[in-house]
Amino acid sequence: MIVTLDGPAGAGKSTIARKLADRLGFAFLDTGAMYRAVTLAAVRNQGPWDDPRALAGLARQCRIDLDGSHVRLNGEDVSELVRTNEVTSHIHHLADNPAVREQMVELQRAIAAGQDIVTEGRDQGTIAFPAAECKVFLTASPEERAKRRVLELQARGDQISVEEVLEQQNERDHRDSTRQVGRLEPASDAIEVSTDNMSSDEVVDRLVEIVSEKTQRANG
Ligand code: C5P
Repeated sequence: MIVTLDGPAGAGKSTIARKLADRLGFAFLDTGAMYRAVTLAAVRNQGPWDDPRALAGLARQCRIDLDGSHVRLNGEDVSELVRTNEVTSHIHHLADNPAVREQMVELQRAIAAGQDIVTEGRDQGTIAFPAAECKVFLTASPEERAKRRVLELQARGDQISVEEVLEQQNERDHRDSTRQVGRLEPASDAIEVSTDNMSSDEVVDRLVEIVSEKTQRANG
């Protein structure tokens, strides 16, 4: 069974997808980490940022391995390195590139083949797995998402204001929802769940219910 979990940055997807996969005994796929890994390769190569074909070629040479909580780039564990602001600010060069997206989707499908999996991203229910049995679109208000992000960054020692995070977040939302291919949008058959004022465990409980309703319907 494939469970897709899409939604904007800061809706709590990663934490919730991991917990949901644990509860269901499913594998977990963090597709954002794939885009982050190829972006890290491009940052190290200093682009070339104005050459989409070269970036797609560079991405093609990357070997990306994911095992739940770790991401490896050509064998090197880059799980921490892919989370820096430098990587985040360059992601759009790769994520907006249709040839790169095609490669990433191909890899996502290869990883998911024959597995029960919770896969998390922006385009999982729409592009990567249009026939997935269970699709969820997680949302939260921009302010709540920015507050969560500030707490996360503060826990890592970064001092940043809610206003600053909100500005970056609005920019990323805009890019994510207006790109030509693989834009952030709920699949027509996705169930939308707002995580405002809910703990991650409450959200996971709700998602477990949704998955079991879908399973019963598929079996019944
Ligand atoms: O989820 P995360 O914030 O790690 O994703 C990083 C970036 O990768 C997102 O802002 C988005 O631009 C891109 N992404 C994407 N498609 C996905 C997952 C992530 O374009 N399926």
